[in-house]
Amino acid sequence: MSVLLETRDLCSGYGDVQVLKQVSIALEQGQVTAFVGSNGAGKTTLMRTLAGLLPTRRGGIMLAGHTVDALDPPQRLALGLSLVPEGRLVFPDFTVADTLRIGAYAPHARAGWRARAEQMYELFPRLKERRNNQAGFLSGGEQQMLALARSLMSCPKLLLLDEPTLGLAPAMVDELFAILGRIRETGVTLGLVEQNIQTALSLSDYAYVLEDGQIALSGPSAQLLDSPEVQASYLGIREEAASVS
Ligand SMILES: Nc1ncnc2c1ncn2[C@@H]1O[C@H](COP(=O)(O)OP(=O)(O)O)[C@@H](O)[C@H]1O
Ligand SMILES: [Mg+2]
Repeated sequence: MSVLLETRDLCSGYGDVQVLKQVSIALEQGQVTAFVGSNGAGKTTLMRTLAGLLPTRRGGIMLAGHTVDALDPPQRLALGLSLVPEGRLVFPDFTVADTLRIGAYAPHARAGWRARAEQMYELFPRLKERRNNQAGFLSGGEQQMLALARSLMSCPKLLLLDEPTLGLAPAMVDELFAILGRIRETGVTLGLVEQNIQTALSLSDYAYVLEDGQIALSGPSAQLLDSPEVQASYLGIREEAASVS
């Protein structure tokens, strides 16, 4: 196994506020790595810093062997890092088809964009039905799928998703996670921010729990799911021995 993205003692924040405090993580190639933690823990700040939307203040980010702290978001995209931001952010006036085309705007992604758009319609049949509709008229779940498809049009090696299921109906959540499973099978490495720790741990290979801008806990997801500490502190499951007494 090899590490696709790594940070060492990464610090970043806004103005006088330091949010991330010496965050060290590693995302293995081909795996799903989950980031969980309560509201305000710093998950979005971490994603924005990795994507280059916020500067590294201290420490560093390595992507596929390159130190990327000095690179802007398009340069990181060219190296294969794409972020689907929190809140989706699709342009409401653009059609589905135009949105996909924009996703392939980066020079490295332009060749073959039509064929890739067809692949997206295969992966997301809902988008195919709505290819000529404006994004603003899609449901929340469909907009999330469009944001995801737009990112995939850039041929990412690493796809970061910031709370893709926030506010979606349960059936749509299941559909989206099934699609993420298929994306993963194509070899794309996934970084998934997810508020529901149970869901995050059952869908990922490795997980980091953030608290107050720091990594409070990390490990293989299956181990974390089984750990009494995680069950007691994060999953609301009490140990049997404790509930008997
Ligand atoms: N644009 C901003 N300016 C100042 N502080 C911010 C900004 N965005 C987020 N923060 C603060 O940074 C901290 C982490 O927020 P965030 O990364 O959005 O957490 P999460 O995604 O885990 O909910 C919070 O205390 C939040 O108030
Ligand atoms: Mg967030």
